Amino acid sequence: MKLKILKHLVCPSCNEELRLGEDYNEKDNEITEGVLICVNCKSTYKIIKGVPRFIDTDKYVDTFSFEWNKFHDVQMDILNDTDESERTFKWKTGWKPEDLKGKLVLDVGVGAGRFADVVSRWGGEVIGIDLSYAVDAAYKNIGARENVHIIQADLFNLPFRHETFDHMYSIGVLHHTPDTKKAFMAVVPYLKKGGEFAVFIYGRGYHHYFSDIWRKITTKLPIRLMYYLSSIAIPLYYIHKIPFFGKVAQALLPTANWPDWRWRWLDTFDWYTPKYQWKHTWPEVFKWFKEAGFTEIELFEEGLSGLSQICMRGKKL
Ligand SMILES: C[S@@+](CC[C@H](N)C(=O)[O-])C[C@H]1O[C@@H](n2cnc3c(N)ncnc32)[C@H](O)[C@@H]1O
Repeated sequence: MKLKILKHLVCPSCNEELRLGEDYNEKDNEITEGVLICVNCKSTYKIIKGVPRFIDTDKYVDTFSFEWNKFHDVQMDILNDTDESERTFKWKTGWKPEDLKGKLVLDVGVGAGRFADVVSRWGGEVIGIDLSYAVDAAYKNIGARENVHIIQADLFNLPFRHETFDHMYSIGVLHHTPDTKKAFMAVVPYLKKGGEFAVFIYGRGYHHYFSDIWRKITTKLPIRLMYYLSSIAIPLYYIHKIPFFGKVAQALLPTANWPDWRWRWLDTFDWYTPKYQWKHTWPEVFKWFKEAGFTEIELFEEGLSGLSQICMRGKKL
């Protein structure tokens, strides 16, 4: 944790300032262990392994704690010499580097930090929050950078003042909470007026029919067992290439089809394990933007053609 983040943090219980307790460890300008104390209500929040922690457990996101620590490097451009995450970020948000340069940006549900990495390389100052222990993976990946801050917190109770951020995004996160719309509405107050919010939310579609049935079982299986079972995606990729038979196999047991075998494994685990996985329609998401006071709402093309992917961005009035 960098000391400069303190100016943006407040106590999530009473909204007052936090100060660093006297006993702390520091290494390379990072507070690695210590405690944050609320100057008003005296609540305390630990800093563990460089990350301020505003929650006691990872509640319903334990599958993500497992996933992002196991697959911590798979989707990181910098570690794989690719630009896959950067290209994905561009089409999911519609932003270009000049839109985020010098801005304070909130990544709601940072995971292992693949998109926070992009924002930081584009010159934005990014705060990545996540409820799960994915924050440990994100901190290892990018936490030491001067313009990156990783925080473990619940998006329903964030440790920031309202209207703090120039821009915000939440990619593949809100539909993994108990209530997607409530999650959307919960984070909007932290965006400044005139700021933009970009979201990626799963779309509803007939092609999820069989995986929704499988999920009734897979979400109840032990995480470690699901880790091994999802590796079935690695060989199934070749079977899916067989004409006709491959299409039927993919429809009955959908698995990820990335050329990189580790992405296939990760994305299949990511699909079958989360406790919550809501799907929506784009008019539904559009209405949330309207209701929350956004203008210039855009649905990105890939979202339109895919419909299983809703990528939308708006400007707060
Ligand atoms: C599919 S992952 C996406 C991670 C990242 N945005 C990406 O695209 O790589 C969903 C993330 O949402 C986080 N999440 C779910 N509910 C949350 C909440 N209430 N507060 C903060 N993060 C949450 C999970 O812990 C998980 O890391």
